[in-house]
Amino acid sequence: MREKLIRPLIAGNWKMYKTPSEAEDFARELREIPKFDDRDILVCPPFTAIAKVRKVLDQTGIFVGAQNVYPAEEGAFTGEISPKMIKEAGAQYVICGHSERRQIFNEDDEFISKKVKIVLQYGMIPILCVGETLMQNEAGETFNVVEAQLKTGLKKVSDNEIKNVVIAYEPVWAIGTGKNATPQQAQTVHSFIRKILKEMFGDIASSIRILYGGSVKPENIDQLMAEQDINGVLVGGASLKIDSFSRIIGFNKNH
Ligand code: 13P
Repeated sequence: MREKLIRPLIAGNWKMYKTPSEAEDFARELREIPKFDDRDILVCPPFTAIAKVRKVLDQTGIFVGAQNVYPAEEGAFTGEISPKMIKEAGAQYVICGHSERRQIFNEDDEFISKKVKIVLQYGMIPILCVGETLMQNEAGETFNVVEAQLKTGLKKVSDNEIKNVVIAYEPVWAIGTGKNATPQQAQTVHSFIRKILKEMFGDIASSIRILYGGSVKPENIDQLMAEQDINGVLVGGASLKIDSFSRIIGFNKNH
């Protein structure tokens, strides 16, 4: 197998779990696990816990991110949060267009493209999530759906900015269902994503991180990370417990 040159990113998306004090306790445990100098670690707590988690993780090299953002600096947007606010709280990454945002809160690709852009403008790293639903998958539409999500989601990103973007492929049918895509299925879509990125941005595509998400667990992490175009994972449920998350962080890349 060709040596993988992209530094892997293991990211935890805590979704709507953990109060600030629970998140702080978890961050303390995370601080104690063995570190690896060949991979990056990121946790995305709920907004209310970002500052606390950032503080506990200072000097550890572990990154902290937000799960969402509103694409404006400030304004009359009751209940929303701005890039300036999450940045000051300590966010370095921001998840944009997670399928739960798309499905439950009706976010569309146009709106998501504004989030991606503003996150870059504020010097943070967007993680643009793409992925098909079960129905789209069964109808053989996976490639079309993912291509459209990428093309619109990234349309405001310049050639210069794309190096600071992370893509996450999360097939909706694999999220929280225990049904993960097989490593080969994921690899096929990841390699397609890289091809689209290459058409859009040229050779830089070979250095863009493409994460897989959807029922990533200690039992499947090594096989997933062995695939050529899987450069990390976005983990939901298994990132909430220190045992499973630390096993995922410690994946064996020579599997
Ligand atoms: P699960 O790992 O719980 O399937 O969630 C995946 C996900 O949505 C990460 O963003």
